[in-house]
Amino acid sequence: MNKRELSPVDRFLAGANNALRTVAAPAGRPARPNPADTVDDLDLTSREKSHAAGLMRVNHAGEIAAQALYQGHASVARDRDTERQMQRAADEEFDHLAWCEQRLQELGEAPSKLAPIWYAGAFMIGATSGILGDKWSLGFIAETERQVCEHLDSHLEGLPAEDVRSRAIVETMREEEQEHGENAINAGAAELPGPVKKLMQLTAKVMTRTAYWV
Ligand SMILES: [Fe+2]
Ligand SMILES: [Fe+2]
Repeated sequence: MNKRELSPVDRFLAGANNALRTVAAPAGRPARPNPADTVDDLDLTSREKSHAAGLMRVNHAGEIAAQALYQGHASVARDRDTERQMQRAADEEFDHLAWCEQRLQELGEAPSKLAPIWYAGAFMIGATSGILGDKWSLGFIAETERQVCEHLDSHLEGLPAEDVRSRAIVETMREEEQEHGENAINAGAAELPGPVKKLMQLTAKVMTRTAYWV
């Protein structure tokens, strides 16, 4: 089936719509069921609850950034297949965002108040690396997803053992982030220079440390 090509104005409007829908919680209905739906809630102490909420707020902020990154890359992608691949990944990231938001609500806490900053920063980074060309854009995504997997592994260690619902969400996200990274590599991602990877790690650290609290 032939899909209509989007004009730059269409793309801009779609991007603006996505930005609003992302930073203005609630995220809305995910396209796929929440992985936590299949597991029962266990009793958590108030301390465990607030730690779990801090970690899920970090993950929620990360998913806001993921939305922006993929939208940023898609908005400047030159190759239509690359653009479509990024759009597909963004759709999955949107489910992650909605699942994290649902879990935060269950834990009685709110998403990061700095959501517009995470979105704007990540969109600019996404669009800038996209302007350098698709192989760099894909390289950036591959490295981002690799770092996200490491980060989610640390959350799987840090989440309370009883918090099976958060764990179910994070485990599913972890699998899909790995797939996003592999898809980017298979699509021709370039290996980023070491200092760029380091800078990405530092930026992520600022975001994760801050979003745990705010
Ligand atoms: Fe994600
Ligand atoms: Fe991802």
